[in-house]
Amino acid sequence: MKKNIAVLPGDGIGPEVTAQAIKVLKAVEKRFNHTFEFEEGLIGAVAIDKTGNPFPEETLKLCKKADAILFGAIGDPKYDNNPSAKIRPEQGLLEMRKNLNLFANIRPIVSYKNLAHISPLKKEIVSGVDFVVFRELTGGIYFGDKGRNEHGTEAFDICSYNEEEILRITHLAFEAAKERRKKVTLVDKANVLETSRLWRETVQKYAKQFPEIELELMYVDNAAMKIIQNPKHFDVILTENMFGDIITDEASVITGSLGMLPSASVGSSVALYEPIHGSYPQAAGKNIANPIGSILSAAMMLDHSFHMHVESAFITRAVKDCIDIGFLTQDLLQENYFSTSEVGTKISELVFNEIYELI
Ligand code: IPM
Ligand code: MN
Repeated sequence: MKKNIAVLPGDGIGPEVTAQAIKVLKAVEKRFNHTFEFEEGLIGAVAIDKTGNPFPEETLKLCKKADAILFGAIGDPKYDNNPSAKIRPEQGLLEMRKNLNLFANIRPIVSYKNLAHISPLKKEIVSGVDFVVFRELTGGIYFGDKGRNEHGTEAFDICSYNEEEILRITHLAFEAAKERRKKVTLVDKANVLETSRLWRETVQKYAKQFPEIELELMYVDNAAMKIIQNPKHFDVILTENMFGDIITDEASVITGSLGMLPSASVGSSVALYEPIHGSYPQAAGKNIANPIGSILSAAMMLDHSFHMHVESAFITRAVKDCIDIGFLTQDLLQENYFSTSEVGTKISELVFNEIYELI
């Protein structure tokens, strides 16, 4: 199969980890006789530096004609301490989500047996965790009207949702639950927010068609607690944009390192794949960042966008093997750790050479 992949390495450690995902995709290409064409585009702080725009028109064009997008990270400390900056790298990401209509962000949270000891949670709480968060990505408070009064002393951000926005991601969450343990937890704040009440109403109505799926309703404050106390409780979590942002960072702690987690952002056409860690500027250029989040994002790309299920399973299996033999970066090991590029090479070699019995 021939596929065009738009590559947006972005800022901080983005370029380093994305290079490892490409290395692994090239191993898949060779082993399975596919052709992947990679074309790079600018986004984030690097795009501001070069063009003045965090999401240049050219990058949008590149994304639109691609079969899938591999994205690194966005953000630069030079903007973080300057709340009055007019142009910010994060705008590039938000614009891309909106322009490409990437309305659902899918974030799987899976714990690995041989990493349970590095989680700050107890081993018995962590082992066997396997849930997925469906976070709405193009609506809510992120995209509502925002502003200040004339003196700049009062500010507002409007949160709004309509039925259609809720339904399209609800549909995806239920489809996923059918293939999993058949449980959807809607996370909201319906005791306070009108938007949350609309989510509840809409999701409850939708759920009536699928009596085989258990629908659980949970307030976000309670969910935040439960994710730490008993994460095995969850199968599919469905939630709005900002709650999803917060609880997925929280959930990432379960696995021991934010560096492990991939994500997919899907919508009406092309989908985007990115690790959930940010640009981690302190590690940029040092070849120490964990590339597994990016590599697993590539695996999600093969699975969701290209329907290359065996190829994708080869990558997830190679990552698991790397964990089992302790060939890992320093966020996961105290000593005898490996560099970003060494881990990328190891995983690509496993993908290329191992005989995995799959499916
Ligand atoms: C994420 C990030 C972004 C978000 C930022 C960088 C705008 O935290 O993808 O989770 O809040 O959505
Ligand atoms: Mn976030």
